Amino acid sequence: MRAFRAGLLRFDDEGRAQYDADGLLVTGPAPDGRQLVRAAGPYARLQGNFPGVAVESLPGRIIAPGFVDLHIHFPQLDVIGSPAPGLLPWLENYTFPHEARFADPAHAEALAGFFLDELLRHGVTTALAFCTSHPSSVDALMAESERRGLRMIAGKVLQDRHSPDGVRDQTEQSLVDTEALISRWHGRERLGYAITPRFAPSCSEAQLRGAGALAAKYPDVWIQSHVAENLDEVRWVRELFPASRSYLSVYEDFGLLRERALYAHCIHFDDEDRALMRARGAAAAVSPTSNLFLGSGFFDFEGAQRVGFLHGLASDVGGGTSFSPFHTMLAAYYVGREGQTKPGLSLSPQRLWWLHTAGAAQALRLDGVVGNLQPGCEADFVVLDPACTPLLARKTAAARDLDELLFSMIVLGDDRLVESVHIGGRPWIAA
Ligand code: GUN
Ligand code: ZN
Repeated sequence: MRAFRAGLLRFDDEGRAQYDADGLLVTGPAPDGRQLVRAAGPYARLQGNFPGVAVESLPGRIIAPGFVDLHIHFPQLDVIGSPAPGLLPWLENYTFPHEARFADPAHAEALAGFFLDELLRHGVTTALAFCTSHPSSVDALMAESERRGLRMIAGKVLQDRHSPDGVRDQTEQSLVDTEALISRWHGRERLGYAITPRFAPSCSEAQLRGAGALAAKYPDVWIQSHVAENLDEVRWVRELFPASRSYLSVYEDFGLLRERALYAHCIHFDDEDRALMRARGAAAAVSPTSNLFLGSGFFDFEGAQRVGFLHGLASDVGGGTSFSPFHTMLAAYYVGREGQTKPGLSLSPQRLWWLHTAGAAQALRLDGVVGNLQPGCEADFVVLDPACTPLLARKTAAARDLDELLFSMIVLGDDRLVESVHIGGRPWIAA
C-alpha cells in the first residue's frame, strides 16, 4: 500500500467536487492485481487507519483524478495547427494524407510512444482514440498502452467510400479486421476496443450495417464516430441518407446508438436528436478547441443539460489545438458562454473539471473505475503544482474557495501544472 498527503480533489455521485486542503490518498492492490484507491479523505481523519504505511508528503501540491479524453486521433499528432476553411477541406488536404502514412506499421510504432507521452505529460490517463483504417495502427497503440499499464480504448477507422487511396478500406475486410481486433485487444489488461465508423459520409450502408451487427454482438465494446459537426457535412449526409430523419438518426438506423456509443461534436442537433441520445444512453464527446479552430459551431450545453443526455470533454487532436485538459476546459467555458446561436451559460469550474474526469468516465460507463479517486477507483492520478508559474502561484494563493482555485488553474494552466502522473498507482517516468 502507498499513501500520499496533499490537497485532494475528487467527486461525489452527484458530480459535486469534494476537496480536502490537507488530504490523504491511500492506494493498494486488488485481488486481480490492479492498484485501487483504498481511502480518500481528510488526513486528520484517516491517518490513524493505516499504521505501517509510509506517507509520502507532497506539500503545496494537489492530487486530482487523471483526466479522461473522450475523443482524440492518434494519427493526427502532426495535423495539429493545419489551417483550412472548414472540416471537409481540412480532411482532404491534411488529415487523409497524414493518416495514409500509417500504412507503414513502423510509422505507427514510432509515433505511439510519442502520442502516449504527450497525453501523460498533460495529465490524461485514459482516452478514447481513433487510430487509422490500418489494423496495424491499433496494434501499435494498444501494445504501447499495455506496456504502460494504461486504461486506453481505441479502434480501427472504418471508411470504405468518399476516402482517397491510402486510407480507404474494403467493406468485408474492414469488418473482419474489426472483429479480429476486438478478439485481440478488448478486455486484455486495461484495454478496450471501440468500433469506429469514421463518420456516416465515409461509410457505405453495408459497412454501417456490419458495424451495427458487431455492436450488437459485442455489447460491452465501445462505438465511436462523429456527428453534426459542420453544416456542409450535415447537408452532405442529408443527400446521402435521405430516408433518415437527421444525421444522428443515420446511426440509429444502423444500430449504432446505444450505451458506450460516443459521438464527437453533436453541435447541429435539435431536441429530437437530444432526446434520442438520452433514450439510447449514448454520449457526446464535446470538443471545443476543435470546434473553434475549424469554425464548426458551438456545442449547446444548455440543451444537453435540459434534455439530459450524457456528455463530457475531449481534445479532438488534431482538429483540436491542444492535448491540455486545461485548454479544453477553458475552451468549453468560452463555448458555453456563447449566446448568439444558442442560450449562453457559465459552466462552473467544478462542472468543467467533472466533465473532463468523473463525468467523462460516466459517459464511457466507466464511473467508479477511472476519472475519480473514491475508494475502489483505479489509482490513476495527477499531482498538480499550483505554484508552477509566478502568476499561478499568486492567483491560487489568493483563492478564497474551491471554485476560485479550480478556475485559476483552468484559465492559466497547461502542462507545467502537471508535476507528476501515476498510472495504476505507479509513478510514470517519461522515457
Ligand atoms: N469527421 C470525419 N473525420 C474527422 C476527423 O478526423 N476529425 C474531425 N474533427 N471530424 C471528422
Ligand atoms: Zn475527431
